[in-house]
Amino acid sequence: MDNINLGSIEKIPLGQGHCFIVENEEIAVFRPRAGGLYAVQNRCPHRNGPLAEGVIDACHVICPYHGHKFDLQTGRGAEKGETVKIYEVKEESGEIILKL
Ligand code: FES
Repeated sequence: MDNINLGSIEKIPLGQGHCFIVENEEIAVFRPRAGGLYAVQNRCPHRNGPLAEGVIDACHVICPYHGHKFDLQTGRGAEKGETVKIYEVKEESGEIILKL
């Protein structure tokens, strides 16, 4: 696995997500107000909605297109058969470090 530095944590407003393109993959990184950092595939498995633009709580994102909900820790969706890929991500000295 490679550690990829995505730059300053300040790129992601607190309580929101941001989409990064990493090796041709769209990855949504979220910074919940409750703390922590999560990364999942940006495209919703329902109809490709941009999850980075969804509303989040402490550990879920709600797709901005049709409201499907995904767990940021497990990638599990609330709708049957829908999951998103999750990635390991952490903050180190104010920078976002993604494992790919
Ligand atoms: S595209 Fe995400 S809920 Fe439909």
